[in-house]
Amino acid sequence: MGPFEILCGIAAAVLALYYFLTSTFDFWKSRGVPGPRPIPGLGNFKDIMLNNISAGDYLAEMYNTYKNEPLIGIFARKTPILIIKDLDLIKDILIKDFTKFADRGFPVLEKADPLSQHLFFLEPKRWRPLRMKLSPAFTSGKLKEMFALMSECADHLIQYMDKITNTGNPIECRELTAKYTTDVIGNCVFGIEMNALSDENSEFRKMGREAFNPSWLNILRIRIRQIFPWFYNILFGYFLPQTNVTKFFTRVIVENMDYRETNNINRNDFIDILRELRNHPDKLDGIDPTDSLIASQAFVFFLAGFETSSTTISNVLYELALNPEIQDKLREEIDEVYAKHGGNLIYDNIKKMNYLDMVFKEILRKYPPGTIVMRQSTSSYTFDGTKVSIPKDQKVWIPIYAIHRDPNIYPKPDVFDPERFNDEIVQSRHSMSYLPFGDGPRNCIGARFAIYQSKLGLTKILRNYKIETCEETPIPYVNDPKAFILAPKGGLHLKMVKINRI
Ligand code: HEM
Repeated sequence: MGPFEILCGIAAAVLALYYFLTSTFDFWKSRGVPGPRPIPGLGNFKDIMLNNISAGDYLAEMYNTYKNEPLIGIFARKTPILIIKDLDLIKDILIKDFTKFADRGFPVLEKADPLSQHLFFLEPKRWRPLRMKLSPAFTSGKLKEMFALMSECADHLIQYMDKITNTGNPIECRELTAKYTTDVIGNCVFGIEMNALSDENSEFRKMGREAFNPSWLNILRIRIRQIFPWFYNILFGYFLPQTNVTKFFTRVIVENMDYRETNNINRNDFIDILRELRNHPDKLDGIDPTDSLIASQAFVFFLAGFETSSTTISNVLYELALNPEIQDKLREEIDEVYAKHGGNLIYDNIKKMNYLDMVFKEILRKYPPGTIVMRQSTSSYTFDGTKVSIPKDQKVWIPIYAIHRDPNIYPKPDVFDPERFNDEIVQSRHSMSYLPFGDGPRNCIGARFAIYQSKLGLTKILRNYKIETCEETPIPYVNDPKAFILAPKGGLHLKMVKINRI
């Protein structure tokens, strides 16, 4: 072969590659949906792939750039993604036409990631019966039953704080609160003592840290999974060992269920719901309740359950340190409730704290841990009032972080103002303008539990400690582009000053 033929061959290969990488790029243009210009190979995700910006911040940028558009079309490499801005259309997707958007579109890779067969990832066929069976885990009756155990964990948190604050040094709040929520999930959901507060070497805390560690290795793994799921499945399914986190959780959950089975122990908790499913596959519409399918549900409850709530509690502490007058007002409410009940806190008291509720809602507005709610169409669909149609399997994303920071919905969105959540103002807003837990049949299954464990932890902290900023406190709060949920770069250091009550 001469140099001319070689050159032609290279040119043909480059052209073929270019065609392959850009073949979808007229997808949104042909549908009349505006959006930024994609680049071959990366689409619009260059800065996200390079960890220069978090996905939530990127969508907020797009949201503001295309101010008056109801829909924006972008590309994740070459995959078209539709960003929904219009609140009525969001309502259609999450609630009215939910059956056409019941999927999230995550690949479930049973071989490479046996614990990916969980509620968050599962396709509608397996998700539906599982969701129905797992929903009773967090009824208000169940939460009431958990109160004593949860309260015990909150007391351990205070004892632990008493120990670590007596040096007067600032505390990194995200680690502190993650220990608390790890113990709460362990005790209340799994019936397992995770000892994250009492033992610096707690295996559960270690695994929790590892699962959320945005190390290069973890990020590389996720990128390969996103871009080449088939290659990922072969590589991690057949050639590389499973992660420590996967091995640990599968072993612990299966051993725990077996132990209860052998010793005839019933605690009427989440693990018992899973045992029931394992023993009665007929209750799952023909789905095979393998050990890994069952362990996957426990795994996602653990993962989704501790980091989101612990980040939220630390964000509250951060804003209270920056806004002492709000902190004082909240502590007054807490002290009043304690005084009314002879220094005791019972389940119903938490619900009665109105200002605490407003503070908590405002935190989840300003810092929603999940910045995007994702759906995938299960059939072709035309958006109401538009000419835009999408095919089956189209990914649609709801940019909740951007909506929560939209100045037309929340004036001065960077200001922390719990008054935005007084009843009257809430009534005046569109119901889809506040979505920290998503909405519709596939919303967050653990929302009530999350609210409860966070409020209880906060109540006990504020009753015992005054929160102040210190030199290491990050001001302003900068979102970590590498973090898997919305989280601050470099942690949240705050000073805790003990309140001595006589
Ligand atoms: C502040 C704490 C939390 C926040 C902000 C949060 C947020 C969310 C969001 C935004 C979703 C997606 C909803 C949608 O697509 O409409 C979700 C789903 C989910 N969350 Fe949470 N969550 C929190 C705590 C928890 C807890 C404590 C648990 C369990 C113990 C949990 C378990 C789940 C599960 C299993 C799903 C998937 C539900 C399904 O697909 O059926 N979350 N969460």
